[in-house]
Amino acid sequence: MKFKIVKDTSLSLRSKSKPVTFPISEKDEKLLLKMLEYLKNSQNPAFREKHKDVREGVGLAAPQVGVNKRMLVIYFKSEEEKEVVHALVNPSIIENSLQKTYLLSGEGCLSVDDFHEGYVPRDYKIVVKAYDVIKKEDVMIKASGYEAIILQHEIDHLNGILYYDRINKSNPFLKIANAVEIG
Ligand code: CO
Repeated sequence: MKFKIVKDTSLSLRSKSKPVTFPISEKDEKLLLKMLEYLKNSQNPAFREKHKDVREGVGLAAPQVGVNKRMLVIYFKSEEEKEVVHALVNPSIIENSLQKTYLLSGEGCLSVDDFHEGYVPRDYKIVVKAYDVIKKEDVMIKASGYEAIILQHEIDHLNGILYYDRINKSNPFLKIANAVEIG
C-alpha cells in the first residue's frame, strides 16, 4: 500500500472525519500501521537521505493521507529515550486542564510547507479515550506537555483544523498567562 501525504490545500484536511465502525476493517488497520511505519522511517536520517521528499514527523492523522476517518498515529522518543507509540481509532478528549502549554519553537506539520510562526496554545494536560490498534484494546491516555500537544494537533486534523488556525493573528508570540512553555 502506497500513500501520499496531502498538503493543506487539500479538501480532506479541511473536512470533519467520520468515526470508524467496529470491527475495524483489515484495510483501515493496515493503513494505520503503514502510517506508523512512515513516521518511524521519517525519524531515521539514513531513510531521509535516501528519500529526499520525506520530512521528519512525530504524528500523522488519516486525513493527511486523504482518508477522512478518525484515525491517527504518534511516534516519538521521550527525553528519557522512552518510546511513545499510539495508533488510535476514534480518539476523543474526555478531560482537559485549564492550564495551557505551547512549544516555544511553534508547531509544524507534514501537510504544511509554508512557515507559520507563533505560539499554538494547547491544554497542558488531557485524557484521551480511544481504541488502540497495537494494544488491541480501549485505552485511556493521560498525557501532558509535549505528548498532549501532539495528541491535540492530530485530533485537530480529524476536525479539519490546522495548527496555524490557533495562532493569534495580531500577536503570534503573545505570552499566555500561567502556561507551561516547552523549549
Ligand atoms: Co499536522
